[in-house]
Amino acid sequence: MKILGISGSLRKASWNTALLRNAAGLLPEHKFTIAEIGDLPLINQDLEGDGKFPAPAERLRDQILEADALLFATPEYNASIPAPLKNAVDWASRPPSVLGGKPAAICGVSPGVLGTARAQYVLRHTLGVLSVQLLAQPEVFIGGAAHKFTDGKLTDTVTREFFAKMLQNFVVFAQRVKLG
Ligand SMILES: Cc1cc2nc3c(=O)[nH]c(=O)nc-3n(C[C@H](O)[C@H](O)[C@H](O)COP(=O)(O)O)c2cc1C
Repeated sequence: MKILGISGSLRKASWNTALLRNAAGLLPEHKFTIAEIGDLPLINQDLEGDGKFPAPAERLRDQILEADALLFATPEYNASIPAPLKNAVDWASRPPSVLGGKPAAICGVSPGVLGTARAQYVLRHTLGVLSVQLLAQPEVFIGGAAHKFTDGKLTDTVTREFFAKMLQNFVVFAQRVKLG
């Protein structure tokens, strides 16, 4: 399967982007790509013309279209999703939306205790409205990031095994959605 990872963080040392890299390592039999969303312009309908979008938005939309499944990793910013992630979802949603029917899962990691739970529920709501087919369980809220990662690797055994199980569920779910 072709899986596209979308991180809500633009930070080089992002825990959430690191989580996606770990997902790629845990799914070696699948083609895993992480999308670039940092160069997307802010959503603005004036930048759309004759069904065309700015080049970074076209690139993201093409990557989503080509992907069999999407894995979102979101930080929590002020109890919601970061603006760059909402911006990316907004570009992908413009008609014709490239998100409808696409299988996806959400995960997230934070230095604090909540593990991005509040942001994930905001993202779940928005993606649900856009008819994205979301994996319901297990939910992956990773708190205390500094204790779970070593040099970008998810080294906490319990968390790693839990995340690996979620990814296996996700792959089975995505294949089922694809088969209809
Ligand atoms: C604007 C802003 C708002 C934040 N709000 C929250 C928050 O509501 N809850 C939380 O757990 N962490 C919050 N944080 C801290 C982030 O969880 C932390 O910076 C985290 O490392 C971001 O994810 P990343 O490592 O993938 O970049 C906030 C950070 C920023 C920059």
